[in-house]
Amino acid sequence: MKDNRPLIFHLSASKALAKEVSKLLNYPLGEAESYTFYDGEEMVKPISEVKDRDIILIQSTSYPQSKHLMEILIFVDSLKKNKSGKITLVTPYFGYARQDRQIHAKDPITASLAARLIESCGVDEIIFIDIHTKNTPSFFHIKTHNIEMTNTYKQLFLRVMEENNYKKDEVMVFSPDHGSESRGIALASSLGVTFGEIYKIRPKVDETRIKDIEGNPNGKVVFLIDDIVDTGSTILEAVDALKGMGAKAIYVGFTHAVLKENNYRELVHHDIDKIFFSNSIELSFPHEEAVCFSIASEIAKAIRGEIDG
Ligand code: R5P
Repeated sequence: MKDNRPLIFHLSASKALAKEVSKLLNYPLGEAESYTFYDGEEMVKPISEVKDRDIILIQSTSYPQSKHLMEILIFVDSLKKNKSGKITLVTPYFGYARQDRQIHAKDPITASLAARLIESCGVDEIIFIDIHTKNTPSFFHIKTHNIEMTNTYKQLFLRVMEENNYKKDEVMVFSPDHGSESRGIALASSLGVTFGEIYKIRPKVDETRIKDIEGNPNGKVVFLIDDIVDTGSTILEAVDALKGMGAKAIYVGFTHAVLKENNYRELVHHDIDKIFFSNSIELSFPHEEAVCFSIASEIAKAIRGEIDG
């Protein structure tokens, strides 16, 4: 009997995650071939038969962002030429999402350019995880879906509260900058605890300075959440400031570990009680000092259409 289940593919990113999702959904993994020409040019194509098969392509556009994005464009173009069915792209981490608005004259809006490229090659639907801002989905004309992480963080932090016997009135959720305000508010309200916010400025692209803090962390257990950690400067500045104001414990959760190994080491050697981050990006270095949680079941639910967004 003909197998009509959708085929799941990954390219050079998100291999382990694609395998996990394929197992959870019981959809087969498709086979692809890829090589890089001597001059750096990429070639990717499906080996499995894709005609009339719905396709789920799982690939973060993480480092090296341009290679991973280009692989998606080439692969989807090849799927179309081979007459595949509906193509759903899952980008566990969507690179270029931070370039979503003009701050200075002549700034490019590269998130919008990435959206046009992805649409033009023939993707029918795209699923994001904890997208940086709502601007990025608005750049697309195809169906988009953003998997919010509130419930995942809620479960992780409820366990922390249970294990340490923390009462609600001694816990606060903080966002380390204005960009994560809505994430922080959603988490605080789902845990039934108070919310606090840090306002930061960036003197340089890889430097953070705190301008103001709303809320009093003195004597509190703080859950600090953000979408991305890159250099780690936003989180580390926030941790130091909250500790300086008397926070008695700090737990950090972030979705996208964009960070390099030296930034990771700096983070885990800081005065933080526990760090949680997702496997939206596959790290190439050991990271057992932190808790890396899987988003595979959230992706599977979104593919099955079981969560709104
Ligand atoms: C910014 O708006 C993001 O939400 C993160 O706070 C930022 O990308 C983190 O960057 P870094 O770790 O370099 O401070």
